[in-house]
This record gives sequence, C-alpha cells and structure tokens, in this order.
Amino acid sequence: MTKCWVNGELVDRAAATVSLFDHGLLYGDGVFEGIRFYHRRAFRLAAHLRRLRDSAHAIHLDLPYDEAALTRAVCEVIAAADCEDGYLRLGITRGVGPLGLDTEGCGQPTSFILVGPLRRLADGEAGGLRLVVASTRRTPADCLDPRIKSLNYLNNILAREEARRAGADEAILLNLQGRVAEGASDNLFIVRDGVLVTPPVSDGSLDGITRALVMELAGELGIPCRERSLTVTELYAADECFLTGTAIEMAAVADIEGHRLLAPGPVFTRLQEAFRVHIAAETQPSTQARVS
Ligand SMILES: Cc1ncc(COP(=O)(O)O)c(C=O)c1O
Repeated sequence: MTKCWVNGELVDRAAATVSLFDHGLLYGDGVFEGIRFYHRRAFRLAAHLRRLRDSAHAIHLDLPYDEAALTRAVCEVIAAADCEDGYLRLGITRGVGPLGLDTEGCGQPTSFILVGPLRRLADGEAGGLRLVVASTRRTPADCLDPRIKSLNYLNNILAREEARRAGADEAILLNLQGRVAEGASDNLFIVRDGVLVTPPVSDGSLDGITRALVMELAGELGIPCRERSLTVTELYAADECFLTGTAIEMAAVADIEGHRLLAPGPVFTRLQEAFRVHIAAETQPSTQARVS
C-alpha cells in the first residue's frame, strides 16, 4: 500500500498533512525535488539530493536530515509504493511559525516525500509537443537564482496556464533580455545542422539533472553540444527541438507558435534511445547500488 513519508515516519496518504501555519504553505518558503524511480530504484538520487542541499543552503534552511537519512527515506517510500515505476516529490519547508515573513520562530522544518504515478506531458503526444512562447518572463537571477528549486512556482504556473489557454502543451519562458530560458517545468534543446544547443543556466533555467545527462550522452554519441544563448527566431529555424526533465523525461517538439519542426527528429531519436538504455542500466534489478 502506497505510503508517504512525513518528518521521519511512513504514513498513509490521508495522514500526510501539514499545518496551515507552515511557511511552505503560507509563503512558498521551502525547497523540493521531483525524482523518478524505475524498477523500484531512484534515478540520479545523489544528484537530486545535492541540488536539494544547495537549494536549502541558498535560502538559509538547515536540512533536518542528512543525505544518508534522506536516501533511506526515499528507499522506504519506493519499497512501499504500489507501482514499480513512479515519481517522488521530496520537499522541505521552513516549518510551522508565526504569521509574518520572519523565519525566526519557525520550529523544525517540515519534511515530506510523496509518491505517485505521473501523467507525463509527453504521454499521448506521439506526434510531438506544441509549444507557445509565454508573455510571462522567467524571474531574473538577480531576483531569485533559477538554480534554487524553491516552492515558488507561480511564475512557471502562469506560463503553463498561457500554454493551456492557447491549447498548447507547454510554454517557453524567455528571460528579461528576450533570450530563451526554459520550459515551465523542463529544459530546452534545439538541433541545427547536427549541433545540439541548449541555453546556459545563466540565461535563467534550472540546472536540470536530465539536461546534464542528455549533454553527457551527446558527448558519448559524438553529437556536438553547445551551451549558448538562444533567440526565439533560432527556435523557429531549428531542425529539431525537444524538452528534458525528470517528469517529462525527453519529449520532441512538433510545433512552436505555428512553426513546424520534425518530431521526432534523428538526433532526438538517437539521444532518447541512449537515454532509455542509460535508465535501464542504472536501475536494472541486478544493479548493486540501489541508488546512483
Ligand atoms: C523550472 C524547471 N526547469 C527544468 C526542470 C528539469 O529539471 P530536472 O531534469 O532536474 O528534473 C524542472 C524540473 O524539475 C523545472 O521545474
């Protein structure tokens, strides 16, 4: 029976609750990670826990559990899950405190791990995704560093809502300079003349774990890969475009604002195949390490 983990305990879903006075709820004050598991093994867990620790550090939040304890908790939740493959949401909030922005007075951070199957954006989109360029811009790094995976997703939600209202699958967020940053919950790549290009994190994207793996796989396959700023015009002129992320995995894009692209294109197909092989190798039941 699927269980959630809350402050060190495995509990039934109905008991997985937080106080209305939790600053995670009141102010979005906290950090999180979305983590996939395959064959009951967490994928790239060490990288997710490192990013969680870095995000927490950046907002002066002391994690109440170290990496070993969080790894054990993740394994417990996966073992109790009623699915072999699924998605985890690991969150740490500032905890319960008095009304007001001050973090002083907040007690223990609230820690939780939720589990569930996830409808991927790419499900049922065999012909490729349709994207729009959102009018909502990515919060500039000078205001909130996009590397921090915080509980503040309103910016991304507003962009996704623009996509939904336009009948599209996902929104592309630009930074204040008009350069491409990322999708509402994923990183973006294009292919032009056989070269893979993705915007640098400094243009306003999350330092995606799937993005890093795709760049690694491109290196192994001999596909040249560059990190450089991208304009919207370059997206329209791309041979291929695709999104990456823990939730979406890898998904080809067929249409950006009415500009048609090849989906899935040959470079995407090679990388996706390598991605699947990599997941299988890292999470196959015989793999000694239960986490990587
Ligand atoms: C805003 C944003 N960008 C990119 C990503 C993809 O990152 P990752 O591959 O680490 O899941 C996510 C998902 O976590 C995200 O929320």
